[in-house]
Amino acid sequence: MSPEDTNLNADLMSDETTQAPPSAPGAARTAAVIPAAGRGVRLGPGAPKALRTLGGTPMLIHAVRAMAASRAVSLVVVVAPRDGAAEVKTLLDAHTLPERTDFLVVPGGENRQDSVKAGIDALPPGYDTVLVHDAARPLVPVDTVDAVIEAVRDGAVAVVPALPLADTVKEVEPRADGPEPVLSTPARARLRAVQTPQGFERATLVRAHETVTENVTDDASMVEQLGLPVVVVPGHEEAFKVTRPLDLVLAEAVLARRRKNDGF
Ligand code: CTP
Ligand code: MG
Repeated sequence: MSPEDTNLNADLMSDETTQAPPSAPGAARTAAVIPAAGRGVRLGPGAPKALRTLGGTPMLIHAVRAMAASRAVSLVVVVAPRDGAAEVKTLLDAHTLPERTDFLVVPGGENRQDSVKAGIDALPPGYDTVLVHDAARPLVPVDTVDAVIEAVRDGAVAVVPALPLADTVKEVEPRADGPEPVLSTPARARLRAVQTPQGFERATLVRAHETVTENVTDDASMVEQLGLPVVVVPGHEEAFKVTRPLDLVLAEAVLARRRKNDGF
C-alpha cells in the first residue's frame, strides 16, 4: 500500500477505526442490522429516540458509525420509524460515513422483534454473518464490535457481548400495590448484563425469527429457545443503552471525554 493509500484510509476512517481485516472479495461478508424504530417512551416526550442528538449528532448516526467503524462490516441496514424512513435516508446522506460501507433503510414494526425481522428480510445474499445492534447503544467501541464478529467467524452461531453486574439481583413477584415478595437471589457471579451488537450466523438468526413468536427483548434468547448454543464475549461499559434521561447525561459526558482525548 502506498503512503497515499494510507492517508486516504486515515481520512475515511477518522474517529475510531478497527484493526480487523475486511472480508476478502467473495468471502463471507458481515452486515449489521440496526433497529431504530422505537419511540423512546422511557426517555420522555420528544423526537423518536434514535433521532435525538448527542453532541449535536443524531444517536442513530453514532450507532451507524460505530458499526461501519469495523472494517469487516460492509453493509448497514437501518430499521427506521415506520413513518420516518425518508427522514433517516436524508440523515444518512447528510453525514460523513465510510465509503466502503453500503447502507439500506427499511421501515420498522410494532415491537423490536418485528423491526429486527424487517431488517433481516432486507438483507441481500452473500452476508453470512449478521450483527444486530440497538440504535440506543450509540457509543459501543469498535473493539467490541470486532470481538463479536471474530467469535462468529470462529464458529459460534450466536454471540453476545456482556458485562458482570454491579448490583445484586433479586427475582420478585411483581406487584403494583405494595412491597414485592422476593422469590430468589441468583448468584451474581453467574449473571451477565447483555449488550449489543449481538452476532449471528445468518441462517440461525433467520430460523430463530421464523420460529419464535413470543415477544422477547434480545435476539440471542430466540436462538437459546431453538436449543442452540449462545456464547458471551466481554462487553464494554461504553456500550450502555440510552434508555432514561440520566443515560443521556452519561452519553454526553462520554462523548465530551472522547472529543477531549482526540484533541478536538
Ligand atoms: N426498536 C425498534 N422497533 C420498535 C421498538 C424498538 O426498532 N418497535 C429499537 C429501538 O429503536 C432501540 C432498540 O430497539 O434502538 C432497543 O429498544 P429500547 O431501548 O426499548 O428503545 P425504545 O423501544 O425506543 O424505548 P422505550 O422502550 O423506552 O419506548
Ligand atoms: Mg422498547
